[in-house]
Amino acid sequence: MLNKKLILGIETSCDETSAAVLKNGNEVLSLEISSSVPLHQITGGVVPETAAREQLKAIIPIIDLALKNADVELREIDLIAATKGHGLIGSLLVGINAANTLSLKYNTPLVGVPHIWGHMYANMININEEIQFPCLVLTVSGGHNELYLWKAHGDFELLGRTLDDASGEAFDKCGRMMGLDYPAGVQVSNLARTGNEHAYKLPLSMEKSGDLNFSFSGLKTAFLYTLEKLDSIDDKKEDLAASLQRAIVDSLMFKLKQAYKKHPVNEIHISGGVSANYLLRSELEKFGIENKIKTRYPDDIRFCTDNAAMIAAAAYYCDFETGFIDPVLHS
Ligand code: KG4
Ligand code: ZN
Repeated sequence: MLNKKLILGIETSCDETSAAVLKNGNEVLSLEISSSVPLHQITGGVVPETAAREQLKAIIPIIDLALKNADVELREIDLIAATKGHGLIGSLLVGINAANTLSLKYNTPLVGVPHIWGHMYANMININEEIQFPCLVLTVSGGHNELYLWKAHGDFELLGRTLDDASGEAFDKCGRMMGLDYPAGVQVSNLARTGNEHAYKLPLSMEKSGDLNFSFSGLKTAFLYTLEKLDSIDDKKEDLAASLQRAIVDSLMFKLKQAYKKHPVNEIHISGGVSANYLLRSELEKFGIENKIKTRYPDDIRFCTDNAAMIAAAAYYCDFETGFIDPVLHS
């Protein structure tokens, strides 16, 4: 049985370099995140080589800072947990190599955690309440859009996934069409607060598909056509953002409700970057109250987007194979 009292988490799957120290599974002693997003704003999206280069610069200072702020020395760490995939291979390799090296040097057990499992375990941080399985969990971010039936720790059944773009990508790409910087999700959501969500009619994606998969490419095209019909969007950004946000959130909630009909679970969770969205959160809460089921989303916005505390939390609750992480096999 592994000792998991103090876990050092490392997450480098995309454009964030993050390290965290987690105590007893849910107490975050430190969480440090360095982001290369400002560089990707210049290009309007993530350039993998740039992201990997920035990971390389940030990884050692971020791990040092996480240990310092937790007031913990490397030799005191019981387990190292690093994201092993999915993600950008160049970025992943930086975190994995750092974790492999530290594990060898300090003779500390090491596990590789799937990125998406991290997002799901973000809902276990800072809570003292056990999850009542089974649950439905919708992971929504820039890179993934997946719906799982969560039966027990480490036991997930994939019910549906996006067939093209993820919901975060839909926010980002439509936001970009409106001239917003990458990643546009937060800005769309801020503009939407004062907009009229009924101003523009956008399609409810995959309403008639009969399965639990998602698709956002049709919505993206419909949004582009809507923009093309307008002479200027200067005084319409709020209404456009509100209509877009409503369409994305309704599409997500539609499939979540369909899934609940088939699987009347005890809890429904959302996680990933888009779970920071206020409309998605309030629609989920409303559904929870109507159906008398517990709903959860990460209480701290830092646990919604990519972070190392969630990777450490997944390592605490799940039994992963220990040893050298092979990035080629697992990413
Ligand atoms: O989980 P995450 O940090 O990275 C991936 O694993 O992809 O998610 C980032 C995504 C971006 O697409 C961003 O626009 C979106 O999450 N996002 C939001 C909000 N905050 C972040 N989308 C809508 N509303 C928000 N408040
Ligand atoms: Zn993520």
